[in-house]
Amino acid sequence: MTDEVLVGPICRRQEVTEVPKVFAAEEIARTGVIVVEKNNTVRAFENVCPHAFARLDFANTPVAALDGYHILCNVHGAQFDPVSGVCTLGPCVGAKLTSLKVKEVEHDIYIVKRDV
Ligand code: FES
Repeated sequence: MTDEVLVGPICRRQEVTEVPKVFAAEEIARTGVIVVEKNNTVRAFENVCPHAFARLDFANTPVAALDGYHILCNVHGAQFDPVSGVCTLGPCVGAKLTSLKVKEVEHDIYIVKRDV
């Protein structure tokens, strides 16, 4: 067993809302990390679309879909459930965003690196 390794903080807890946003997280991914709150739980996903492996925020566009619920890929319009990360609309239905484990420490949000 290894100790968990925290990366970050990548944002303050108060910056996380039900509207998904991209935060820089160089130690995790050059493309950044999508962070969103749903059902009082903070969730994070890699900012990489499983369709063509592009950034979901291609050309610095928002990753919030117009319905106010889903995460949007701005390349070909795929939409992802913000709880499961599963694509529910678009060219990669059924594919999943890569989820990341998060931990809140003193009002800051960290990503928990996989066991080493
Ligand atoms: S790269 Fe995201 S839908 Fe095509």
